[in-house]
Amino acid sequence: MMKPSDQKSPSRPKELILGTLSQRDFVSGEALARELGMTRPAVWKHITRLREEGFIIESLQGKGYRLKAVPDILFPNLIRRELKTAYFGQTIRHFLHTDSTNTQARAWAAEGAAEGALVVSEYQEKGKGRLNRIWQSPSGKNLLFSLILRPDWPPQKAFYGTVLASVSLCRAVQEIAGISVGIKWPNDLYVGNKKLAGILTEFATDPDRLEYMIIGIGVNCHWAPVEPLPGGQPATSILKEAGKKISRLLLLTRFLAHGEALYQRSQSAGVGFLREEWNRYSVVNNRKVTLMNGQTSWTGLAQGIDEQGGLILLLEDGRRETFLTGDIHLRFQEADFF
Ligand code: BTN
Repeated sequence: MMKPSDQKSPSRPKELILGTLSQRDFVSGEALARELGMTRPAVWKHITRLREEGFIIESLQGKGYRLKAVPDILFPNLIRRELKTAYFGQTIRHFLHTDSTNTQARAWAAEGAAEGALVVSEYQEKGKGRLNRIWQSPSGKNLLFSLILRPDWPPQKAFYGTVLASVSLCRAVQEIAGISVGIKWPNDLYVGNKKLAGILTEFATDPDRLEYMIIGIGVNCHWAPVEPLPGGQPATSILKEAGKKISRLLLLTRFLAHGEALYQRSQSAGVGFLREEWNRYSVVNNRKVTLMNGQTSWTGLAQGIDEQGGLILLLEDGRRETFLTGDIHLRFQEADFF
């Protein structure tokens, strides 16, 4: 596993060099060394590393270095440059390669990571989906990240983390890709009959409040599995649906901006409004669905979610039942579980 490329402040030499080059035209090696408190050979070594990572850095005799192009890698300094939030995404750990951003975020949260801390990876060896499924994604094609939150909520409200993330992601995808997405209960984003993104929310309790919550999100930006894995659903990508590539960076930063705005509102006004937002994007509401729990199944008309995120079904025999998350297997387009 590789070490993350960043902590809170851009204190690492490569970050400092990039920060300086991205704000100026040509900068001499001597000026970089002097301003950043490094030796000339250290500047040269870090410039070489940056070039190996895909940055195009021009060098001209007598003028110095100039940043010409940045690779499509979600480096923390690039994310921060684009961010318009107070704390969502302000502390970042970025990996080129890791086991799972959720696993990394859990460990970081247990060590005391700040609210809004973000873990991003280009590739996951053990990307986790719900019910121990695998989340697949080739390196650099999609968006894979986990956000750490510390809401003062009882554990029963944990589902609102998923609600907040789904609504924010729907808005961000619509803005950046121009495609209409909906939420399929409990935590998938769909375009038509196909899954575009999945959310895996994990949490630790303290014991009667949430200690931290990890919201893990995988968005199929430029790649989707051709065949669903066992138990999985047919998938699609933004590239397929919008017919164009998008900026993963902009998608992520728009998500964080929407997420922070909704989170702040939930802290002042309570979480009730999130349910209304969720219902607005739901693709199951007013549709006939079959819910499975073990060997038993119920068929009915979906009527939204209750305060705990349970799906309300108007059953065929006229009874109204709420199915709580965790015990429910939902069959809508394809088998799905929470
Ligand atoms: C699902 O639909 O089953 C949920 C998938 C969640 C996948 C994301 S990818 C980033 C984050 N890290 C993980 O290991 N899983 C989530």
